[in-house]
Amino acid sequence: MEKITLTKPDDLHVHVRDGDYLRAVVPELARRFARAIIMPNLTPPVTTVSQALAYRERIFAALAPGQQFQPLLTLYLTDNTPAEELRKAAASGVIHGVKLYPAGATTNSDAGVTDIGKVYPLLEVLAETRLPLLIHGEVTDREIDIFDREQVFIDRILAPLTERLPELRIVLEHITSEAAATFIGEQHGDIAATITAHHLLFNRNDMLAGGIRPHMYCLPILKLERDRQALLQAATSGNPRFFLGTDSAPHGRTRKECACGCAGIYTGHNALELYAEAFAAQNALPRLEAFASHYGADFYGLPRNRERVTLLREEWQMPEQIAFGADQLIPLRAGGRMAWRLADNG
Ligand code: NCD
Ligand code: ZN
Repeated sequence: MEKITLTKPDDLHVHVRDGDYLRAVVPELARRFARAIIMPNLTPPVTTVSQALAYRERIFAALAPGQQFQPLLTLYLTDNTPAEELRKAAASGVIHGVKLYPAGATTNSDAGVTDIGKVYPLLEVLAETRLPLLIHGEVTDREIDIFDREQVFIDRILAPLTERLPELRIVLEHITSEAAATFIGEQHGDIAATITAHHLLFNRNDMLAGGIRPHMYCLPILKLERDRQALLQAATSGNPRFFLGTDSAPHGRTRKECACGCAGIYTGHNALELYAEAFAAQNALPRLEAFASHYGADFYGLPRNRERVTLLREEWQMPEQIAFGADQLIPLRAGGRMAWRLADNG
């Protein structure tokens, strides 16, 4: 296949940051995606509907002239979120999910939930209002190995949660393990998972063998080849519980290349092309459209997009770096060859 045309996709999990940084990433996001679930882990986090509405305006202001794009906002759940704010969010029409970060799990998660037991009454409000709970699924206990944190989260927190609140709509975000793919694949309720392009293309050797590559460090961390194979299987299976979420997470180079670098991989300038590469390698390109453009919209109760985008099998070179305020972003595949190119009308 030399060319593939699909319904314009949605990115169901992305970080676009704030201030000047928005302008570096939002136009490229809007070229590839009609809508995106925007993560609320700013500093300070987006915890109220009014903060989310103001953030939405700043995202609109960062679009290139003439671009159409719909940001789907989320609220950051804390131990102290008022139930009333969640009801307001559900009624707002612009808030599409509430994000649960276990406190300390990842970038800007200090204000996250310290103990799921404390927020059960809030989760009951979500179940009642049908607003999805979006979960960063990792435990944070020091004694749990970083490569096991997703699986332990499923066993200790997620499985009991689905039993106790079966009507809660859940997205387990950016799954990275065979355990997560199996768990989600076997569920019956309103539970789904997003999968990133980088977890479909790389394993932990790519990050660590022959030298440490800080721009391939993200959370949940890249795992084993057998985990990658399980994710590929899930993404290309045609099971609507698995859909696209890039988790593109831009950080300036100076915050990545240092003694304690931030977690986050940046794929905002090539995510869709990378997914095409992963699907093509599985001979599954015909399944890309449903994964990228149908299942996520269906889960979130949104109409499927009407615009279309075209990807051409045509080599191009990823830039070595991208301006990011006063700093630079080092994108995934920096300086390397890309096999698929987004056609200009896309
Ligand atoms: C994300 C970020 O930088 O905001 N980092 C990451 O490695 N994915 C946070 C997150 O989604 O975990
Ligand atoms: Zn993320």
